[in-house]
Amino acid sequence: MCGIVAYIGPREAYPVILKGLKRLEYRGYDSSGVALLNGDLRVYKKKGKVNELEESLIGKDVHAHAGIGHTRWATHGEPSDRNAHPHQSANGKLAMIHNGIIENYAQLKTELQKKGYVFKSDTDTEVLLNFIEDIHENNQCGLEEAVRIALKRVVGAYVIVLLDAANPDTIIAARKGSPLVIGVGKGEHFLASDASPIIEYTKEVVYVNDYELAILKADELVLKNLGNEKITPFVQKLDLELAAIEKGGYDHFMLKEIFEQPDTIFDCLRGRLDVSNATITMAGVQNNIEHLKLANRIIMVACGTSWHAGLIAEYVFEELCRIPVEVEYASEFRYRNPVIHKGDVIFAISQSGETADTIVAIERAKEQGAFIFGVVNVVGSSIARISNAGAYTHAGPEIGVASTKAFTAQLVVLTMIALKIAKEKNTISEERYVHLLNELHEAPEKVKEILLLNDKIQELAEKYKDAKDALYLGRGYNFPVALEGALKLKEISYIHAEGYAAAEMKHGPIALVDENLPVVFVATKDSYHEKIISNIQEIKARKGKVVAVISEGDETIPQLSEDIMVVPQADELVAPMLSVIPLQLFAYHIGVAKGYDVDKPRNLAKSVTVE
Ligand code: F6R
Repeated sequence: MCGIVAYIGPREAYPVILKGLKRLEYRGYDSSGVALLNGDLRVYKKKGKVNELEESLIGKDVHAHAGIGHTRWATHGEPSDRNAHPHQSANGKLAMIHNGIIENYAQLKTELQKKGYVFKSDTDTEVLLNFIEDIHENNQCGLEEAVRIALKRVVGAYVIVLLDAANPDTIIAARKGSPLVIGVGKGEHFLASDASPIIEYTKEVVYVNDYELAILKADELVLKNLGNEKITPFVQKLDLELAAIEKGGYDHFMLKEIFEQPDTIFDCLRGRLDVSNATITMAGVQNNIEHLKLANRIIMVACGTSWHAGLIAEYVFEELCRIPVEVEYASEFRYRNPVIHKGDVIFAISQSGETADTIVAIERAKEQGAFIFGVVNVVGSSIARISNAGAYTHAGPEIGVASTKAFTAQLVVLTMIALKIAKEKNTISEERYVHLLNELHEAPEKVKEILLLNDKIQELAEKYKDAKDALYLGRGYNFPVALEGALKLKEISYIHAEGYAAAEMKHGPIALVDENLPVVFVATKDSYHEKIISNIQEIKARKGKVVAVISEGDETIPQLSEDIMVVPQADELVAPMLSVIPLQLFAYHIGVAKGYDVDKPRNLAKSVTVE
């Protein structure tokens, strides 16, 4: 949430920052701004997307070799020019950008108001900035020291980056709870919320940890903790190509990412799944197999789409490993007082690895002795680092705000983990084990086949785009797929959609059904097939319009459906990786047909780093 970029060095800072903001726009896009330092401190900001900022700056003086930029997802204060970042301190000498929430801002604000401070915005950021300025002026200490003192009083999460007109050769940044990466170039430094604005210039990066301060000059990087002790920066080489974060000829990142799924699933399996020797190699699982196989209980903790992956994993783990599984919204789990035992294993599932609720949930569970296993996409992210062990999903950068390829990669990784544990526990027959390895191996080719439905699904999207509501139904492994299909439709097309367990529908939602309601059934061939056919009949009897995702060779459901999307046959345990893909395309094409910006749906941001 919120994207930040900063630059100091011999280049023109503005173009570097502007390009970086465009790459980070998926993190928030209700307003943006830059502060540039070239003798004087100039701050430009604008409500709306980064393009609007760019247009407003045509003809303005943007010459500078040090600058900071921000693209916002509003927390405190509505989206407006006034609330956009960077903010300037009361004396006009400091400019700051912030990602996160200062929870005790009201108290700090009152203290500052008593001292005569007047605020120009409604943001918590301006409060923190003036708090820093006040300490800087009244304690007569340097800015670095003032930041350190201020942060010791701050409750909440932040990445802050400051420019000081009095020190034009230095940028100061600090982190707690929100991501921050430094790019180390030759005689220059970059700073950003993730590596995407940086990789064009350097692949050497330093991930800043919580409670660390970075003091950047063009040719010097000093890292310190809040106790003013120096920390040796750990410089890593990024394994990321520029092409991976560009659209590559697709109209939208979302479509590109849907189409990448044969490759991302393949990459996820590569080096792990060996069908000829019937093995799965996953060091994170193997090295911790005792914890995993002796688990009394597994708790999947996640949010949104990742939570849906956890729900599917519940079915997979319980069937294969015979370990009881609970699936929790991280946002609920963290505030409850959950009963956690030493033998519990928590799976933290997250694309970004930075979701605030998931981070806090696993920190709490870890404190109580649970073993944390991370299933994360972004390498080096906070959840990956907090976890005791883990497995990356290797889906590559996911930039479209609606998660697609990260979801299927999560399913692949979770299924492989379950298979590995089941093998160790002897809760799976050799025959079923080998069968499922083959099913996973075949998944990328089957996904390729499904993607051939794209044109047909685009036509269906035209037909259904004016629906006011939609119901998504599934059973068993496909029940969470129905939830995911409904979520995709909601977030991309703003059509109200509900996902439900198909049999549960008659306990309430069936009242919604009439001749105008599209009801999307996820009804591939599985052990629930006969049952879901009865549910389809129930909808048909009430004149609902049935749209069904079915398996090749199904002769019954087409006769009951208004429209069908046919996917290759697969074992029911692997089916969700396939049946979700037509639903991703359906949501995408409806969003596009309605003229929405599907990569940046309203009110959303890719990485939810606030609670
Ligand atoms: C929906 C979506 C969100 C995320 C959720 C968790 O398309 O992307 O629901 O799944 O915000 O994010 P991660 O997986 O990064 O923890």
